[in-house]
This record gives sequence, structure tokens and C-alpha cells, in this order.
Amino acid sequence: MSTQPSVNGAPPEVTAPAEPPLLSLRGLDKNFGPVQALVGVNLDVPAGKVTALLGDNGAGKSVLIKTISGIHPPDSGEIFWEGRPVHIRAPKDSTALGINTVYQDLALCDNLVIVQNMFLGRERRQLGLLSEDDMEKAAASTLSSLSVTTVRSIRQPVASLSGGQRQSVAVARAVMWNSKLVIMDEPTAALGVAQTKMVVELIERLASRGLAVIVISHNLNDVFEVADRIAVLYLGRMVASGPASEFNRQIVVDLMTTGASSRSVQVATSAGAGGSEG
Ligand SMILES: Nc1ncnc2c1ncn2[C@@H]1O[C@H](COP(=O)(O)OP(=O)(O)OP(=O)(O)O)[C@@H](O)[C@H]1O
Ligand SMILES: [Mg+2]
Repeated sequence: MSTQPSVNGAPPEVTAPAEPPLLSLRGLDKNFGPVQALVGVNLDVPAGKVTALLGDNGAGKSVLIKTISGIHPPDSGEIFWEGRPVHIRAPKDSTALGINTVYQDLALCDNLVIVQNMFLGRERRQLGLLSEDDMEKAAASTLSSLSVTTVRSIRQPVASLSGGQRQSVAVARAVMWNSKLVIMDEPTAALGVAQTKMVVELIERLASRGLAVIVISHNLNDVFEVADRIAVLYLGRMVASGPASEFNRQIVVDLMTTGASSRSVQVATSAGAGGSEG
């Protein structure tokens, strides 16, 4: 097992934690012909925390989450789930573990109403008939448990929703299926200020419910607001990962644009700050 570089002299990522992280990636490689999309990627993703996955365009962020989701199985490397090695070869393998992904394009159907979108492909049936009442209740209670209150009716077509509301429906759909890890690719990219706030709060709520969240974002405001941990990819390599307190904007920009940073975080309190992996 190799350790990975960490910024500003902090201890390397691979230590011996009391409880294994929910998800650990070790040495993942993924090539598309001559393109090395992922090179020896290591990452630990703990439960109850938001991990921001950062990197410039083409760094490999989407490929990495597609690897975890079973869309692009890795060429080599290991994936551990709750400390045990697993093989994620297809999307059904990742959903069986409790991994649900909200992709950049959301994959919602505009012409269907909210409840139909939330159960798309996993409709509940009884004696061959759709259990409409059942599904409506489950959809409504998931939305309200996430405090998504701006949606007026779950019978509203998705085409009539705002960007933030759509994102909320996509997230609610992802968490409805016994999720342990929710992955979001650029959830706030197309959103205005108020809608972004709504989605950021939703992400925080998921983590406070004990779910692990991986969020890809180019918006460093969002990242520093919501992330407990930060991981930076540069040309397919994981060049830094650790608690968000070990990073600041300038370090993140250095890492994203050059793969390295010589800066260090000015820590107000001397002992212990940012040192623990938790
Ligand atoms: N299906 C594919 N076939 C071939 N090459 C691919 C494929 N998917 C991704 N790549 C390549 O892998 C590299 C990483 O792409 P990826 O989509 O992961 O970038 P990203 O970090 O998500 O960028 P962005 O911020 O622009 O979304 C790129 O060089 C891309 O061209
Ligand atoms: Mg991408």
C-alpha cells in the first residue's frame, strides 16, 4: 500500500484508523487508449463527512466517480468498502453497496412528474399494478426529511422546476435507496445564489445524517463552505488529500493548476489544528 503526497508536511493519508473509512481507493488506474485518465489514485472517504473532489478540466474527476459508480471499472487497483475489498464492475454493484450518484446532467426526465422521476426504473408494484400511493408517500417523506420544502407538489412535472429544485429531486432520488455514499458531480454549476445555498444546505444535511458525500465543484466558495475534506486531482493523479483545514484557496489553486504547492496554511492555534483525520 503506498502513501500519497500530502500538503504542507502533514502526515500521509495512510494511517491506521480505528474504524476503516466507508470507501478506500488504492492505486486505481484507468486508461482510455493512450489517455491515462487515472494514475495510481488513492483516496479515503469517511462516513458523515463531505469530501470535495477538485481538479482542473480533464483532471479525471468525472472518470474517478464513474469508476466508483461502476460505469468505468478500473484497469487495476483496489476498492475497499467498510474495510473489505469489493469489485465494482457495473452500476448495479455500486448501488447494491449503497452508492448513489447524481451526474452532471442529472438524468431526470422532464416530461415526468417528481414522484415518477424518483422511482424511475425502480417502481413499486403490487400484484402487477403500480403502487402509486406508496410511491407518493415515500417520495414526499424523503423530500421532507431533507427539508426540501419549496417543491409544491410531487405531482409537478420536473420541467416546471427551478434548477435548485431539480437538483434537490435528483439528490432525494439518490438518498432514497439506502444510500451510504452520495456522489454529486457539479451540483451547483448551473445554479443562482439562492439555489446554490439550498443545495449546499442539502449536502450538509446528508453528511449530518451520517452519509458520506463526495462532491465535485469548481466553485471554491461552495467547497470551503461545505467540505470537511479536500482531494485534488492533477492530470489523473491524486496530488493532495486531507482535512479541509489543511488547505486554503491559494493552496488549492496551486494544486489544481500545477499539481503542487509550496505554501502552508497559517494555523491560529498551534497544537492539533488540522492534524486529525476525522
Ligand atoms: N469515455 C472516455 N473515452 C476516452 N477518454 C475519456 C473518456 N472519459 C474521459 N476521458 C478522458 O479522461 C480525462 C479525464 O476526464 P474527466 O471527464 O474525468 O475530467 P474532469 O476532471 O471531470 O473534467 P471537467 O472538470 O471538465 O468535468 C480527459 O482527458 C478525458 O478526455
Ligand atoms: Mg467532469
